[in-house]
Amino acid sequence: MLNFLLIIFAYLLGSIPFGLLVGKYFFHTDIRQIGSGNIGTTNAFRGLGKKGGVIVFLCDMAKGFLPVLLAANLTGVTWHPLIFGFFAVLGHAYPIYLKFKGGKAIATSLGLITAYNPLFALLAIICFAIVLYFFRMVSLSAIVAVFFVIILSIIQGDWMLTGMTCLIWLIVLIRHQENIRRIQSGTESKVPFGFGKK
Ligand code: G3P
Repeated sequence: MLNFLLIIFAYLLGSIPFGLLVGKYFFHTDIRQIGSGNIGTTNAFRGLGKKGGVIVFLCDMAKGFLPVLLAANLTGVTWHPLIFGFFAVLGHAYPIYLKFKGGKAIATSLGLITAYNPLFALLAIICFAIVLYFFRMVSLSAIVAVFFVIILSIIQGDWMLTGMTCLIWLIVLIRHQENIRRIQSGTESKVPFGFGKK
């Protein structure tokens, strides 16, 4: 029973569109009308500036972090912690509150990995930074970094993490379809893309 309740909690928590809420209530800006129109961290940086971007990043990350942490520590939870983190990622990408049109799953996935394996999270961030340094595209860097965690999980032989990150990568690819098209046509936005500007 507790497993099911925590799954529902994780999905509903993941569904909270912090990018939209922080934008609307603190910056009087609907980030869906700006840049890529996405409600995630990258577009929050574009539309809300550094402060807004950092707040949205931390909130979205916490959505993936908290369910894994709770599942690992609550007595009575018998399912693998990553399952709960996955439902938070699912909620972020397909939120019930926004007719299932949510973010691109990156910050929330990072929260999940940070709670589960901080070393892998650090390595994923380093991978992200290296790809970003050379190609200057957040979307490409994020797609590669999540794939890198799949490789790490295989090397470690953590098959639960492999399964979950494969599912997450699938969501990431689906939610990044427009970005992938723009990468292929050479029109994807590159950093710096006006940090701090409205
Ligand atoms: O975090 C999402 C990022 O990978 C791409 O965001 O707004 O450039 O589509 P965006």
